[in-house]
Amino acid sequence: AKLSVIIPAAGSGERMGADIPKPFLELGGRCILEHTISRFLNVRDIHQIVIAASSNYLPRIESLFKNFEEASVSYLAVEGGSERQYSIYNALQVIKDEVELVAVHDAVRPFIRSSLIEKCCEVASKVGGGVIGVPAKDTIKQVDEGRNITATPDRSKLWQAQTPQIFQKELLIKAYNSALADDFVGTDDASLVERIGGNVQMVEGDRKNLKITYPIDLKVAELILNNQL
Ligand code: CTP
Ligand code: MG
Repeated sequence: AKLSVIIPAAGSGERMGADIPKPFLELGGRCILEHTISRFLNVRDIHQIVIAASSNYLPRIESLFKNFEEASVSYLAVEGGSERQYSIYNALQVIKDEVELVAVHDAVRPFIRSSLIEKCCEVASKVGGGVIGVPAKDTIKQVDEGRNITATPDRSKLWQAQTPQIFQKELLIKAYNSALADDFVGTDDASLVERIGGNVQMVEGDRKNLKITYPIDLKVAELILNNQL
């Protein structure tokens, strides 16, 4: 099934506290976004790569694309929005008609393995959606406004959702349109699909697929890149 990947890269990177957005930070001689794009180039049936970035970074992305001239893949950059969800919504508007599966993958997860992307595609083709994740390692507490603990969900049933999150195209578009109509803003893509009754399965990934969020994550990323982790 032909695959498009949407890579949201329009965040401001507040928690990192750098002077440029995270996808453009350098990691082993290339920017983080370049690493991430390259992870999709040898995925089976990859057909289109769409990056959402803030308008002042669009020229930079256009010039990045020149390093990736796979004839069979089309590259497009679109302007992002004020929330991750709106960035992805904008990217969904340019997905090609012939595409059957759409993956969403954070620009700041440069260590995703191609074989896992393919495994997730197979699950999405079969059931509707697939999400890469790992079993929760910490006990998760639910708290009220006063931080009193109100519940301790059974950890054996809790997974940490990562990306990619991959869906049948029509299902994802329907979920995004419905969220927009209802003013629902979620923290991932699957939650939008879940709320319209779509079936999404967890696909076990690995802990190297970290999201570069805080300065410490950049240090860990350098270790992973140098094969020290
Ligand atoms: N993202 C986006 N548009 C937004 C917000 C986030 O495209 N309005 C992207 C980020 O660029 C990142 C991914 O979504 O690749 C995951 O978001 P996150 O790690 O939270 O990045 P930031 O929002 O940039 O960081 P912070 O929340 O610390 O400001
Ligand atoms: Mg954010």
